[in-house]
Amino acid sequence: MTHRLESFFKPKTIAVVGASKNTTKIGHAALKNILISDYECKVYPINPHEKEILGVKCYKKVSDVPSDIDLVLISVPANIVPQIMRNCAQKKVKNVIIISSGFSEIGNYELEEELAKIIEKSNMRVLGPNVMGYKNASNGLDASFAYGNARKGNLSLISQSGALGIGMIYLANNEFVGISKIIGVGNKIDIDDDDLIDYFAQDPDTKVIGLYIEAVKDGKAFMNSIKKCHKPVLVVKAGISKAGARATASHTGSMAGSDKIYEAAIKQAGGIRCRDIIELFDMARALAGQPPAQGNRIGIISNGGGLGILLTDACEANGLTVPKLSKKTYNKIDKILPDLVRPNNPVDVVGDAGFYRYEASTRALLEDPNIDGIIVSSVHGGYARPQEFTGAILKMVRERKLHEEYKKPILAAWVGGKEFEDLVWDLKSAGVPIYPSSWRIARSMMALYLEGQRIKRETKRKN
Ligand code: COA
Repeated sequence: MTHRLESFFKPKTIAVVGASKNTTKIGHAALKNILISDYECKVYPINPHEKEILGVKCYKKVSDVPSDIDLVLISVPANIVPQIMRNCAQKKVKNVIIISSGFSEIGNYELEEELAKIIEKSNMRVLGPNVMGYKNASNGLDASFAYGNARKGNLSLISQSGALGIGMIYLANNEFVGISKIIGVGNKIDIDDDDLIDYFAQDPDTKVIGLYIEAVKDGKAFMNSIKKCHKPVLVVKAGISKAGARATASHTGSMAGSDKIYEAAIKQAGGIRCRDIIELFDMARALAGQPPAQGNRIGIISNGGGLGILLTDACEANGLTVPKLSKKTYNKIDKILPDLVRPNNPVDVVGDAGFYRYEASTRALLEDPNIDGIIVSSVHGGYARPQEFTGAILKMVRERKLHEEYKKPILAAWVGGKEFEDLVWDLKSAGVPIYPSSWRIARSMMALYLEGQRIKRETKRKN
């Protein structure tokens, strides 16, 4: 059965209320973004004072449009939004995005309540108010007023903050994290996080779901949608501190709630809590490109003893273990190390480690049934050429057969400067999950382990 939000994300007809010729207005940007989208649909600007805008015929009211309307974007001052919404309901519009601010987020609860009543009596699904809209990188449609294009990929993002959502697009591009859809939910008068998680769960273009939330309106529905979802759901919850909670109240008019309750609820539902946006992207990159870890036993390879220890500590602090090597693996690695060093976990491949030592030790850990995930790391220690490391990583990560055979994730970490960073850039653009910090990589490996556990629980439930 087609999901109810299909016409929301793939509309055939779109109207923009408050479309303007004035290039500084949000209604102008929203109309232009749709028109320049690489997406086929019929567009209707709505403005009582204009005959055409950006070369497209303009209508005075939504109800004057000669065809059915799948999606309406509203960008007029808050006080006239109810009359526009009544007109949309009368026209039997399927979906609405209310960009306009000036509702519960500034204490104007009555006006928001008026909208809620109109929505309740209609069949419309409504996003907002107080939102940027959405960008659908999978089909090319930009139904937002924000500039900037997302790099196409398979992370779908839901943000309660519009501005942060827009910032996330640029950050994701920088981090080479591909986006399928990004959507702002603002005051969540109707379309809520749970509706979107449900939609993304069945969306073939979405592999990982990420959320920035300040508060959820219906905790039970939120938890159920995560529980039902057979894809990883990453959650950044803001308003943890007292001052942060005060800030969320004035941002989206929402109550941040007890952090302990959120923590427990997200965990119980099978979601993964992220501390901030960069961590969400770190985890998303790992989850989108690597198989989940079947267990929490991690093998670590490093060319610098210090880095190996930091990685070990970070893994252990995040629910992972770094077990001793089996006799078989010890013997395999012993053959490739210089005479003066003995294998251990973390495996110290020593400062002069080149391509072969990295590749062969990674392979030995892949073959070890007591290891569930591998971290390969390099520190630009003077006489180790970073390219030997990055070359080995590229080879191992690209060798699809390896993943299919062993079903183990490989993540990479580095410590160094500009020369190394240039190489890392190439790895990132090739989709390799590589991290500049022992903590960030350990948290990402933890996400792969939690995803492995979630899949196991799901399989058990089904059988
Ligand atoms: N139907 C259609 N268009 C109408 C209209 C109606 N009934 N009544 C007025 N308009 C037109 C206006 O004439 C104007 O067009 P014009 O430039 O050709 O004159 C256009 O709609 C916009 O109205 P205007 O009064 O100029 O408002 P604005 O563009 O300055 O501001 C908002 C409107 C929605 C952008 C503003 O109220 C707002 O909420 N800004 C914040 C938005 C935001 O940040 N959202 C959250 C993001 S995360």
